[in-house]
Amino acid sequence: MEITGRFLRAANRLPVDATPVWFMRQAGRYMPEYRAIREKYSLLEICAQPELAAEVTLQPVRALDVDAAILFADILLPAIPLGVGLEFARGEGPILQHPIRSLADVKNLHPVDPETDLGYVLGAIRLLRAELTDTPLIGFCGAPFTVASYLIEGGSSREFLKTKTMMYSDPLAWHALMEKLSSVLTDYLLAQIRAGAQAVQVFDSWIGTLNAADYVEFVQPYSRRVLQAAQATGVPVIHFGTGATTLLPEMKAAGGTVLGLDWRVPLDAGWDLVGPEVAIQGNLDPALLFAPLPEIRKRVHAILRCADGRPGHIFNLGHGILQNTPVEAVKAVVDMVHEYSVERTNV
Ligand code: CP3
Repeated sequence: MEITGRFLRAANRLPVDATPVWFMRQAGRYMPEYRAIREKYSLLEICAQPELAAEVTLQPVRALDVDAAILFADILLPAIPLGVGLEFARGEGPILQHPIRSLADVKNLHPVDPETDLGYVLGAIRLLRAELTDTPLIGFCGAPFTVASYLIEGGSSREFLKTKTMMYSDPLAWHALMEKLSSVLTDYLLAQIRAGAQAVQVFDSWIGTLNAADYVEFVQPYSRRVLQAAQATGVPVIHFGTGATTLLPEMKAAGGTVLGLDWRVPLDAGWDLVGPEVAIQGNLDPALLFAPLPEIRKRVHAILRCADGRPGHIFNLGHGILQNTPVEAVKAVVDMVHEYSVERTNV
């Protein structure tokens, strides 16, 4: 079957009429439409009601003219059926009530059946596929390491000290936890694909805290399981990390048909590190969206020049959109990316 649409074509390294663009965290508090819904419902209430999750997913598609929709959900939703408890405290990020600190804690994690326990996510995907005609829908999950870090730390972290302490001092507990998470996350991602997700992204947002040897020993086998199971279905799989330039070859070896780059590495240098047989997503610094438009344009063009028209570039930020980002800047980037491709073909 012919692959159509810029996003899916680029993800498969096929030529496109213009570089596709979407943004991590394209739905969120920087958008007035999102804030209006958040005044009435909590984050978890939005996720749990397919109609609301679908509506929030569509907000940036309508407002920005992006080339892909990303399901509105959170990488920590599987923590709820695992039984560790999940809350989002205002301004403080996620809090897990029963963090995992020992092998006994890992053994107490509940079995998860995504079809029932996370059925609301799958419901949102089905609603969105009925609604979206030309825009492909991206599903996602957290990678085992990044999800494990929240379960062990009990929330966000800078040093990942409890996570690394379990890794280095209690390898039995660590491997049991990673085993459990890779199986739950694989099932969850496959369920999203069956429900209609046309591509998936695996977020290993905090993997950059590890060196390559520890990544290979403690993480790569588990990421590989999730990524390769998704890849075997034939949908594009985006493997994303931040601060991970030194891990790129090992991340690529774990899997992914598209590798996500953050802004710390020039796009062409990052692409060279993973080789030509994968597509690349990225990689504007999210902070640049606060700069004047001419400066933004300069940086957007620099990234597009790095890609140099090679098939397989999906434009994105190097990480999620930050709070208080001006919506006009986000929209301007979409137009700059699309227009650049047209200008380039005309010269
Ligand atoms: O990209 C999208 O538009 C889809 C929605 C999405 C959310 N979370 C909604 C959300 C996605 C893809 C995520 C992924 C996610 N969640 C990640 C990986 C991506 C990344 O940024 O690295 C992580 C680490 C999380 C965990 C998480 N969720 C944290 C640390 C926080 C608090 C930080 C914050 O911005 O407040 C959240 C909350 C969260 N998830 C919000 C949104 C829109 C904040 C908005 C709110 O409270 O309404």
